[in-house]
Amino acid sequence: MLTDLDFNKNVELKNEAMSEITLIGMGSMGSALARAFLEEDHQITIWNRTKSKADPLVKKGADFAADLSSAVNSSPIILICLKDYQVTNDLLSAESVRSNLAGRIIVQLSSGTPDEARKLSDWINENGAEYLDGTISVYPPQIGTGEAAILISGSEKTFRQCEKLLKVLAGQLKFVGEPIGGAAAHGLASGSVLFGAYLGALHAARICQAEGLDIKLILNSLESADLATFNAAVLDMLERIESKNYDKPEASIETGTDGARVLLEHARSMGINTDFPDCAFKTFREGIEMGFQKKDMAALFLIKGKIRDL
Ligand SMILES: NC(=O)c1ccc[n+]([C@@H]2O[C@H](COP(=O)([O-])OP(=O)(O)OC[C@H]3O[C@@H](n4cnc5c(N)ncnc54)[C@H](OP(=O)(O)O)[C@@H]3O)[C@@H](O)[C@H]2O)c1
Repeated sequence: MLTDLDFNKNVELKNEAMSEITLIGMGSMGSALARAFLEEDHQITIWNRTKSKADPLVKKGADFAADLSSAVNSSPIILICLKDYQVTNDLLSAESVRSNLAGRIIVQLSSGTPDEARKLSDWINENGAEYLDGTISVYPPQIGTGEAAILISGSEKTFRQCEKLLKVLAGQLKFVGEPIGGAAAHGLASGSVLFGAYLGALHAARICQAEGLDIKLILNSLESADLATFNAAVLDMLERIESKNYDKPEASIETGTDGARVLLEHARSMGINTDFPDCAFKTFREGIEMGFQKKDMAALFLIKGKIRDL
């Protein structure tokens, strides 16, 4: 682990031709991260495979590194926002880049799995650098605002060394703990909730279209259901899973199966896409097949063979 002395020495040593931070990857998200730093007058070095994407940022004051190894050499902190971990691994493992990692802090903000984070962390540490893994939970236009959320896991000491700088990107910058897979796990979990909600909303739009209604009616029904009710229902399910208590349901699996069946029958009869209701109906039906019809919906997704969990 880098001591404060090592880190400060690194910052001083590199201060000659140095930026505060290097950003690798100038796609939609990487460019938004770079813009946020520039708007706060930070000195940054950037690199992207396709240089033209970086041009608007160079006009705003960013230094564009001629190659990736100079990009890494330009700063004590390297922030990566590329397509995925595979691309990150491929770029960092080039000998000219790998040999310059030692003594720096690498912050990975590309999306991936906890296992990818653990593997990259081990590799970065073997090469003498510190590693933080992060998850961005917002879209590019929100970066740099108070509502932007970025979660970081890894060594708390290393996080504190970068905290002030990373806070420029996200008012809601949160350290989620030392296990390095934590931020990626949070990302997967919130992605799962969002995918479920988005797929449901898209299917809802097709229901309204098929019935000749304004598709924005969905928003009315969301307002009347309200977020607090949704959150309370999710909390109830989470507590049931923790306590393994699926009895006395608010909504039983039997009731859910009936609801999913109606959704599926409607889609079939109106000739709209049946993927979403098919998936919901199949999931509930599996619950019934496992004998859980009178149990709470929270019992769905129990793995077959683990019935004794009940
Ligand atoms: N956009 C969002 O709303 C959002 C939200 C949260 C998290 N994220 C995460 O942020 C990361 C970047 O997303 P993005 O929206 O910026 O994606 P993007 O606009 O598609 O940019 C992808 C970046 O990866 C680079 N890249 C892809 N393949 C490469 C290769 N083989 N070699 C070198 N560079 C390569 C691209 O370089 P080129 O420009 O040369 O193609 C570009 O810099 C992803 O992991 C994404 O999941 C994005």
